[in-house]
Amino acid sequence: MTYENILVFREGAVGRVQLNRPQALNALNSALMTELVDAFREFDRDPEIRCLLLHGNERAFGAGADIKEMADMGAIDMYSRDHISLWDEVARIRTPIVAAVSGYCLGGALELAMICDIIVASETAKFGQPEINIGVLPGAGGTQRLTRAVGKSLAMEMVLTGRMLSADEARAAGLVSRVVPVEAYLSEAQRLAAEIASKSPVALRLAKEAVLQSFESGLAGGLAYERRLFALAFASEDQKEGMQAFAAKRQPEWKGR
Ligand code: HXC
Repeated sequence: MTYENILVFREGAVGRVQLNRPQALNALNSALMTELVDAFREFDRDPEIRCLLLHGNERAFGAGADIKEMADMGAIDMYSRDHISLWDEVARIRTPIVAAVSGYCLGGALELAMICDIIVASETAKFGQPEINIGVLPGAGGTQRLTRAVGKSLAMEMVLTGRMLSADEARAAGLVSRVVPVEAYLSEAQRLAAEIASKSPVALRLAKEAVLQSFESGLAGGLAYERRLFALAFASEDQKEGMQAFAAKRQPEWKGR
C-alpha cells in the first residue's frame, strides 16, 4: 500500500508513523485511518520491530475525526461504513505504542492517543473531547477510556463542556506520563520507544496484554490473568536468557521467542 496521509519510518527496532494531513490539522479521515492500521499491522507482524511511535506535527497530533467527511452522513451510513472499527484495529496491535503529542489532540485523535500505551506530551499539547460543540459525543472510546484515565468528574467536565486540558493538567490527571519542552517532545518519545524496544519482545507483549486486562476484569480476574501470563513467560528463551544474564552480570541478548 502506498501512503498519502502518513509517513512511515524504521528506526532500529522502532516503527515510527507520522500523521501527515497538516492542512487539516491531521483530521482523521477514512483514508488516513486505513493507512495507519495497515502500517501498524505490518510493523506488528515484523519480528525486528519491538515498539511503535505515533505522532503528528508541532501544531497538531490530530484535530479529531474528519468533520467534513461525516457532516452529511446518516445513522445507517455511520453504522454500515463502520469507520470507527479502525480505532478498534489499532487497539488490537500487540506491540507497545508510544504516542508523542504536541498541539491539538482532540476528539477521535485523543481517542487514538488513549489507545496507545503511553502518551508523552509537549508543553503545548491540548487534550479535549469537543464533540459536544458539534452536536454529538465521543464515539471511538472517549467516554470509556477518558473516564478510566482521569476519573468521572474531570471526564464529565471535558465531555460535557468540550474544555481542553493543558499538558500539565493532563499530567496531573494521569492522562499522560510526562511533559517535555516542545523542541524535545519527539526526541524524548523516540528515546523512550528505543528503551522499550531494547527489552524482550515476548515479555513486552505479555506485559502490555496483562496491563490492558486491568480494564476488562475485576481484581481477582485480572490477577489470575496476570498469573497465567507470568507462567507463560517461563516458556520463552528470553526468560532463561534474562535471568541467566542477570546472574552472570552481563547484558541479555533477546531472541524474541
Ligand atoms: C475536518 C478540520 C478538523 C476536523 C480542523 N480542520 N479540524 N477538518 N475535521 N476535525 C480543518 C479546518 O476546517 C481548516 O481547514 C484547517 O483544518 C485548520 O483549522 P482551523 O479551524 O482554521 O484552525 P484554528 O482556527 O487554529 O482552530 C483549531 C481547532 C479547530 C480549535 C482545532 O480546527 C477545531 O475546533 N477543529 C475541530 C475539532 C473537533 O471538533 N474535533 C472533534 C471531531 S468529531 P480550512 O480548509 O478551512 O483551512 C470526532 C468524533 C470521533 O473526532 C468519533 C469517531 C469517528
